[in-house]
Amino acid sequence: MNVPIIKVQNLKKHYDIKGIFGTTGIVKAVDGLTFDLLPGETLAVVGESGCGKSTLAKVLMNIEKATAGEFEIDNKNGFVLTAKELQSHIQMIFQDPMGSLNPRKKAWQIISEPLLINSKLTKTQCRDRAIEMMAKVGLRVELVDRYPHMFSGGQRQRIGIARALINHPKILICDEPVSALDVSIQAQILNLLMDLQDNLGLSYIFISHDLSVVKHIADKILVMYLGKIVEFGNTHNVITEPKHPYTKALIQSTPEVGVRNLIEMTPLSGELPSPLNPPSGCHFHQRCPLATDRCKTEIPILTGKFGRQVSCYNI
Ligand SMILES: Nc1ncnc2c1ncn2[C@@H]1O[C@H](COP(=O)(O)OP(=O)(O)OP(=O)(O)O)[C@@H](O)[C@H]1O
Ligand SMILES: [Mg+2]
Repeated sequence: MNVPIIKVQNLKKHYDIKGIFGTTGIVKAVDGLTFDLLPGETLAVVGESGCGKSTLAKVLMNIEKATAGEFEIDNKNGFVLTAKELQSHIQMIFQDPMGSLNPRKKAWQIISEPLLINSKLTKTQCRDRAIEMMAKVGLRVELVDRYPHMFSGGQRQRIGIARALINHPKILICDEPVSALDVSIQAQILNLLMDLQDNLGLSYIFISHDLSVVKHIADKILVMYLGKIVEFGNTHNVITEPKHPYTKALIQSTPEVGVRNLIEMTPLSGELPSPLNPPSGCHFHQRCPLATDRCKTEIPILTGKFGRQVSCYNI
């Protein structure tokens, strides 16, 4: 049996919101997520803008404090690890490589930044380690003293990946790592991530709203809607035989995933409801072609077997 490298139990992140007129409310950005990540596996987290994907990443990186729930990483309580300990297990790459790189630092300084915090290496040693890492992510050594604005978008994302991997973490959270890149460059970065995974034995949590990207890289897919998991399963099964009406609609709106027998499904209509005032019952019922009266009042529970889970009364 494969022992999970990450175990998440009933994880919640609720934000208290204060309006300008003294009104208050709660946004349940992440609302009771339970899942495992196995070593060497890629778990995709998909869903529309605002469904809580980045919040999940921030809680796992300890950037945001969880409201409730449990998080184990390598059998240790992830919430009590120091920043340094946590960073030796898990690192993150971001959507906008330019925004996440210090414009006044050279490539090697950016890549070796995590080393300066965590070790007593000299500047020369840090520079050497950065150069080694640059080779691993496909950046030429001559670029070592350049500043971020002198790189292309794809190269900047390679710098982000090199920085994330310099302390040899086992887990990488990739938050929309290719959405800001040209399509031709996207494939290069995805291939790099897959090669690095094979060579270094990495596990990925891969956040994306784009199923055509996820299809190539993920072993499993977790579909989120307003802070909750609506469907979870093996990538091939979820894409070729989606069960939740929301997953079906997501696939329908991504023709490139190439699932021809789903053509008869209703496309996703309407906006994502306000997270401050989500619909009662199943949060998806107002947009769902299958919704019944029960869906308007009762919140469906995620259930299933053989690694396939769905939260819907009508499947
Ligand atoms: N610091 C915060 N304070 C209050 N609300 C927040 C905060 N951060 C996120 N939210 C809210 O939590 C919900 C989830 O946001 P999140 O950024 O996790 O979504 P996302 O799925 O990453 O979206 P996108 O695809 O646009 O990146 C949104 O309604 C957002 O407005
Ligand atoms: Mg996000």
